[in-house]
Amino acid sequence: MTQDTEQSPKLKGYTFGTEAVAKSPIGLEEWEKLKKSALFSEEDTVYLRLSYEVLADQVESLLKIWRGIIFDHPHLRAYDEDPKTGEVDRDYAQSVGKRFGQWVLDTARAQFDQAWLDYQYEIGLRHHRSKKNKTDGGHTLEHIRARDLIAFTAAIVVPMKPFLAAKGHLPAIVDRMYDAWWKAVILQVTLWSQPYIRDGDF
Ligand code: HEM
Repeated sequence: MTQDTEQSPKLKGYTFGTEAVAKSPIGLEEWEKLKKSALFSEEDTVYLRLSYEVLADQVESLLKIWRGIIFDHPHLRAYDEDPKTGEVDRDYAQSVGKRFGQWVLDTARAQFDQAWLDYQYEIGLRHHRSKKNKTDGGHTLEHIRARDLIAFTAAIVVPMKPFLAAKGHLPAIVDRMYDAWWKAVILQVTLWSQPYIRDGDF
């Protein structure tokens, strides 16, 4: 393992499992129902966990691809730029990138308990104007539009297939890991969208 939750208090701004994390309004009972809405089963948990060892040494390459997609598109790159100067806030982008790498491992670990639900709420807030820039003292656009957050689900998952196949698993097993990742990312973005939705409508 390259990065582990237990070893990560040193990861700047990674507050998973601490008192600093916002409390999710979603509890475990509601989470069980939400998983069913996405046809996410125990089998998906097994395939996500299988993907852990497959992806653990490929996180940097994945980050490079995702970063590339963001930097190729000015409307996405703007979220990492200081709107006054048009310059990318490099320190900010670097800190966020490290936590993004940790997120790959946390998703693959698939320990979806209340602490994890709370951190999903926190991640949603960090994309929203409620908390964007706050964790790293960033000087970038203050808010990520819900439509970009949601649509980027495709940009996250589509490039993953060759990475999931890289350790020689049978194509049918790779497909199962891929499906588990799709569902897991859709579920997380669903949880992250809560701060964007009118009270009582989530
Ligand atoms: C499925 C879609 C997305 C995923 C999986 C994702 C993943 C993440 C993760 C894991 C973090 C770090 C959370 C933490 O602090 O621990 C993060 C933060 C961030 N993401 Fe995303 N993200 C998505 C969509 C987007 C989009 C579309 C953009 C804009 C290009 C974006 C830009 C950012 C920025 C700027 C932060 C830092 C926010 C802050 O704390 O100031 N993300 N994202």
